[in-house]
Formats: sequence, C-alpha cells, structure tokens
Amino acid sequence: MKTVSIVYFSGGGHTTKMAEAVVAGARSVVGINVNLLAISGDDITKGRYVNDALFAQLDASDAIILGSPTYMGDVAGQMKCFLDAGGSRWYSRGWVDKLAAGFTVSGGPSGDKLHTLQTFFIFAMQCGMVWVSHNEMPGDPNGKNRLSSYSGAMGQAGQEAPDVAPNAADKSAGVALGARVAAAVLRWNR
Ligand SMILES: Cc1cc2nc3c(=O)[nH]c(=O)nc-3n(C[C@H](O)[C@H](O)[C@H](O)COP(=O)(O)O)c2cc1C
Repeated sequence: MKTVSIVYFSGGGHTTKMAEAVVAGARSVVGINVNLLAISGDDITKGRYVNDALFAQLDASDAIILGSPTYMGDVAGQMKCFLDAGGSRWYSRGWVDKLAAGFTVSGGPSGDKLHTLQTFFIFAMQCGMVWVSHNEMPGDPNGKNRLSSYSGAMGQAGQEAPDVAPNAADKSAGVALGARVAAAVLRWNR
C-alpha cells in the first residue's frame, strides 16, 4: 500500500469540503491508504507550529497534498506556520521525491488564489518534492476545472454555508486531483 496524506487548514469549513473531496478521489484508487490531517491553530505557540504526530504521518507518506483557504492572497497564517515548521524537512531532505499537490478555496473567482498554490509549489520545490498538476480541461461551468487552474484544484466559497459552496463542480475538481495524485504515486513508486 502507498499512502497519500491531505494536510489542510480551514477557518470556516469551506476548505474542509474541498479536502474531503480530495480524500474521496484518492480513496477511489485501489492500493492507496489515505490520511486526512487538519492543521489546528491550537498547535501554534508564539508563532511556532508543533505537532510531532502529524509530521510523523507525513514522513510516512508517499504523497502530500496541501490545502488552505486563500486569506489576503496567500495561504492562511496557520498554514504558513505549518509550512515554516516543515523547514525541518527541508533541512533533513526527508521529503525528497515525495509527490506534492495543492488546492485552495477563495471568495472570489480569482481572489488571487493562484498565489496560494504558488506558495505550496515553492515549499514543495524547496523540499525536493515532485509537483503534480491539475490535468483537467476548462470551459465547462459544471466541470472539473470550472476556474481554469492547472497548478492545483481551486474552489470558490464566500459567505455561503460550507454545505452550499464550494459547489459540486469545484468538489469534482478536488476529487480529480486526489485521484490523479494517487494514480501518480503508484506509477512513481513502481
Ligand atoms: C482573513 C480572510 C482573508 C481573505 N482573503 C481573501 C482573498 O484574498 N481573496 C478571496 O477571494 N477571498 C478571501 N477570503 C475569503 C475566503 O477565502 C473564503 O471565504 C474561503 O471559502 C474561506 O475558507 P474556509 O471556510 O475554509 O476558511 C478571505 C477570508 C478571510 C477570513
């Protein structure tokens, strides 16, 4: 069995819905074990994120999919604290050659959320990971790439309840990304 971990932060529950969609996609691939790991602000003290158990699960993973809402055009502060803690894995080179991918949710159709995916991408590159794209064609408002993103899966949700937004199309983007990463893990580790 290969393991795909989805590690994410959600302040209001919308990104949780995307994370659950990514989990469903990864679980649809035979031979894949899936972890869903939420970042909690309770694990941040004086700006430092500490959760050894969560990092141990990521160390044992073959792929790590990163998710965050877009806050002020970037990852949420809680996620940034987690990424900074991941600097220990940059130093140890412990995550070299793991697969990586990302997803985000923002209120606007753009909302500058590409920048959130780019933050994840740069983190993954610094750690020597291998980035998996979101390989879905755009153009269908009900399709798997409604928001035309190739760097990762995007969803849109503002003031609506998390049960309403991100909508079914955006969640299908999450499902597609999870399945793509899971299939890629099996090929990468053949
Ligand atoms: C502090 C804060 C900053 C935000 N900044 C942006 C932004 O830059 N662009 C945008 O489109 N939406 C922005 N939003 C809206 C959130 O991205 C959106 O509501 C998202 O669905 C929240 O996800 P969550 O419920 O998982 O926290 C912001 C929301 C908050 C609370």
